[in-house]
Amino acid sequence: MIRIAVIADPHVHDCGWRPEGAGLDAAIRSFGDTLASTRVFNESIPAFRAALDCAVAEGAKLVLLVGDLTDDGQAPNIAAAVALIAEYRDRHGLRVLATPGNHDFFALHGRPQKKTFLTADGTPQTLCSTDCPEAATLGMDAALRRMQHLGYRPEPGDMHWESPFGTDPDFAARTYLVPSPDGGTSCRMVDASYLVEPVEGLWVLSIDSNVSVPRDNAQDFTDPAAFHDATDGGWPTVLRHRAHLLPWMRDVAARAKAGGKHLVAFSHYPVLDVLAGTGSDELRIFGPTGLARRTPPSVVAEAVAATGVPLHFSGHLHVNDTAFHPYGGRGLFNISVPSPVGFCPAMKIVDLDGDRVTIRSLPLSQVPGHDLAFAAYRAEAGASVGPAMHAADHGAFLDHHLVELVRGRYVPREWPAEMAEFVDNARVDDLLALLGVPLADAPDLTMWQLVEDWYRLRKAGTLAEAYVAPERLDFYRRLCESIPPGSDNSLAGRFLVLLRILRGYLGRLPNGDFTLDMRDLSVRGS
Ligand SMILES: [Fe+2]
Ligand SMILES: [Fe+2]
Repeated sequence: MIRIAVIADPHVHDCGWRPEGAGLDAAIRSFGDTLASTRVFNESIPAFRAALDCAVAEGAKLVLLVGDLTDDGQAPNIAAAVALIAEYRDRHGLRVLATPGNHDFFALHGRPQKKTFLTADGTPQTLCSTDCPEAATLGMDAALRRMQHLGYRPEPGDMHWESPFGTDPDFAARTYLVPSPDGGTSCRMVDASYLVEPVEGLWVLSIDSNVSVPRDNAQDFTDPAAFHDATDGGWPTVLRHRAHLLPWMRDVAARAKAGGKHLVAFSHYPVLDVLAGTGSDELRIFGPTGLARRTPPSVVAEAVAATGVPLHFSGHLHVNDTAFHPYGGRGLFNISVPSPVGFCPAMKIVDLDGDRVTIRSLPLSQVPGHDLAFAAYRAEAGASVGPAMHAADHGAFLDHHLVELVRGRYVPREWPAEMAEFVDNARVDDLLALLGVPLADAPDLTMWQLVEDWYRLRKAGTLAEAYVAPERLDFYRRLCESIPPGSDNSLAGRFLVLLRILRGYLGRLPNGDFTLDMRDLSVRGS
């Protein structure tokens, strides 16, 4: 049996960094910035440390790091993340293998950044990288050089290492021409993908799915504006602009099978829909929201499944999910791994044993030092002193953060005004009346409470059960079973679609603790 740990999106931000010339004693990101983001910043190093501690406590010697190691690819944050990983390597013999995420670097030469930090008295101070160059996001070469020991180059003792270009680990030997969308402009870039056999019998395939595509007619590649942002590109962009990866993956899968190796692939972006097939319903009521527009289309599922790679771990969306795509008598599993700095904080422990893959989700709700920035938040001028700043643990902090996002961002910005107004003024009883669904023993809930739970279940799958009372969960199951088919564009019709999406979330494949049987492609567990 081989045990590995999988951690996604730690988004390391080093609060101990002193931005040069900025007059700051520390780099505490403001709570205002935190509320504008789907992740938290100042808690990232304690949370990443807690995840690495879990890996050690579980006896894993290998960690797959599914991208977005740092926030956002600045030299000081990369240095802090790499130093932390080196500490665990030296103290515990832990090996970390990474894949690039969209926050780890930008295109060839990086891009400027502007972040708000807190001074000692809680005054928000905006810092621009034009005044402090080390606050800028690095470009690909500079960032990869700093992270090269995270699998991007072979290490002594590796049984095998290769890239799509051969066995030369020099980044200069791993480049190709990336065309712009119209094919008229191209730019030479590194593809940092690699295959490594770190322990006998295990092939780890790190796929660099973070593709910076030059804009049509771009000329100055030192200018960040010459590139499309990779954030929303994901695997569709890989198919179009890094197509050489597919035959390499097919060849790797065939060789792994012939050689009797366990093959575990990972890349930053999902290859399957991690929102339980609810994307089209979501587009219908909300339009192209943050997550729905990042759902990979079925052409990606078909292309990746056709390579014969059976198991893929993804990050980026900070969602806990298991998805399966059948293909020609075989199939492809995508395990979406949540982030330690977004609700619900967790990581995965994976046991490979013959044809069985047992996966456990370890919550990272207990994080020593989770409150290190709370005093600064409370002192922050203009920040609302809400319950987040008194949260008893990291899980509760991120749950409050999610609630703040639901109330301050998702509903007001993404929901149709008529639905948002109903949520603001009505109770669940009113919803039942609107839908004509009489349900006995409905709990007395506001619509806000229902909507907050909707987002908890969307993001965390089974892991949300630690945050949603059992009677509410039972009610949502009964409600989703009772909704009539069909819907229209009326207010009631739109809420029916919302509940149909909730039914999808509640009916996901097991995504807490479960076992995949690669012979009969079954998934058993919770
Ligand atoms: Fe991320
Ligand atoms: Fe990401």
